Amino acid sequence: MRLNHMLDTLDKLESEALSEIESVQSEDTLESWRIAFLGSKGRLKGVMPMLKDVPKEEKPAVGKRLNEVKVSLESAFDARKQSLTSQEHPQSPMDVTEPGVPSRLGRRHIITRTIDEISEVFKRMGFSIAFGPEVEDEYHNFNALNIPEDHPAREPIDNFYMGDDRMLRSQTSTVQIRVMEQTKPPIKVIAVGRVYRPDTHDATHYSMFHQCEGLFVAPKVSMVDLKTTLFQFAKSYFGEEAEVRFRPSFFPFTEPSAEVDMKMKIKGKWQWVEIGGCGLVDPQVFTEVGYDPEKWQGYAFGLGIERIAMLKNGIPDIRLLFENDARFLRQF
Ligand code: DAH
Repeated sequence: MRLNHMLDTLDKLESEALSEIESVQSEDTLESWRIAFLGSKGRLKGVMPMLKDVPKEEKPAVGKRLNEVKVSLESAFDARKQSLTSQEHPQSPMDVTEPGVPSRLGRRHIITRTIDEISEVFKRMGFSIAFGPEVEDEYHNFNALNIPEDHPAREPIDNFYMGDDRMLRSQTSTVQIRVMEQTKPPIKVIAVGRVYRPDTHDATHYSMFHQCEGLFVAPKVSMVDLKTTLFQFAKSYFGEEAEVRFRPSFFPFTEPSAEVDMKMKIKGKWQWVEIGGCGLVDPQVFTEVGYDPEKWQGYAFGLGIERIAMLKNGIPDIRLLFENDARFLRQF
């Protein structure tokens, strides 16, 4: 009778404790649960006094059950504690199954890439790279290039004059002069860089753009050398089927002078496109830099970088290049 009563009490206590702990949601309530059931004045301890009324021979069985319930409540407590802490502080702060965040690699601007590619082609043909200042004087931008005082290219509305003798260079042909002033012939250089003209911005004009200037000076140089070089460039840059065509033209610093057209594939169709000017260096330019025009000949050319980049990559509007919209630039 006693025995049954005590075992019933233990069963009831265990099942109550286990069902209550199910709804425990915080460490605080878990602690209250521990005090209520396992504490020194808790319900399990409260059953102890009943043990003295249990007949001696039945004591081991009751004691065993008492111990079982204690262990069962303690392990329920441990398990709950564990699950609460892991909810609050997940074991790993990183979910390795979550899809990764792609890292955004930067890239060279399409104009920078075009410059690098064009420079590579000319370097393979034996040209070295020259640089000149973007803030120039009128002497290097005009006079030394045989451009007379009354030439329309000098018009104030077509140039960024700075009030003194200085200006933003309007062409990279200035670098021809700078190189020849500093170097004895023979010369074989290209100069790539920015030039500035106060043009109204539209699909094909911008107040800053890039040119690739070429200069070759040797004892004997002809239009054939010039055309061959540009032909080689066209083929390596625009493909084996590319062609070059010269149209007679005039530049004060070359004689004869020509406009350069290249035949390239645009949207699957081969088309002739003007990409720059060229010619044989005018003897007057050699005289100006102290080269003997009887001893030296040369060719020069100037190509528009934006034009080349836009044609090759199907870019319809020059302004897109300089708006710094990463969504646009990322495509190239
Ligand atoms: N400097 C000229 C321009 O900006 C382009 C040019 C034409 C460069 C003929 C040259 C050349 O070297 O020989 O329009």
